Amino acid sequence: MPKIKIVPSILSAKMDKLQEEIDEIEDYSDLLQVDVMDNVFVPNITPQAELLKKFNTKVPLDIHLMVKEPSEEYLMGFIDANPNLKINNITVHQEACEYLGKTLDFIKSKNVKAAVAINPKTPLDAITDVLDKVEMVLIMTVEPGFSGQGFMEEVLPKIEKLRELKPELDIQVDGGINLKTAHLAVSAGANVLVASSYIFKSEDKVKAIKDLLESVK
Ligand code: DX5
Repeated sequence: MPKIKIVPSILSAKMDKLQEEIDEIEDYSDLLQVDVMDNVFVPNITPQAELLKKFNTKVPLDIHLMVKEPSEEYLMGFIDANPNLKINNITVHQEACEYLGKTLDFIKSKNVKAAVAINPKTPLDAITDVLDKVEMVLIMTVEPGFSGQGFMEEVLPKIEKLRELKPELDIQVDGGINLKTAHLAVSAGANVLVASSYIFKSEDKVKAIKDLLESVK
């Protein structure tokens, strides 16, 4: 299995202290996730690409688009938003993209890694024909839209199946990851752990990250 990676999601960070909160954790983060919601694909809304102008970090970004039909122009908005930031990957949802393969190819053509996400109820079969195009698959472990929800254990068999199919792929989990759940996801085969409220609502964020890593050893 590939190396374990920790990916704080800034969704639960204090927006008025965003830079400070990012500075605190950046030495302990493999990627930093920016969650983007449109109030169409999910019942919640966040700032869009302009958010990337509001902070700087040396940590490469993981842009998770919970957005219906992200157009090429929309994707470019993120890619061009802040030349000081490095975008590692853009993740789009299978359920949100009619021409999924084309969207993933477009992201890759801009030298950004392409990733695909599936919601808890979406079967793995829905993405088998794009597995060779992506560098990471995000298996949602909550219904997307809000941080602070409970981890859905019923998703674990899907992670196991994907790990069997793709021994070297980065398999990301997102939603309800904490000291009680991370080891379940990792035992099933996930290696990229997104956590938002667990990290950003901790008194000591660095300790929270170290404890999380320890919990999956
Ligand atoms: C869920 C988002 C997650 C969310 C996770 O809609 O995609 O990234 O921030 O939050 P926690 O870790 O609090 O479940």
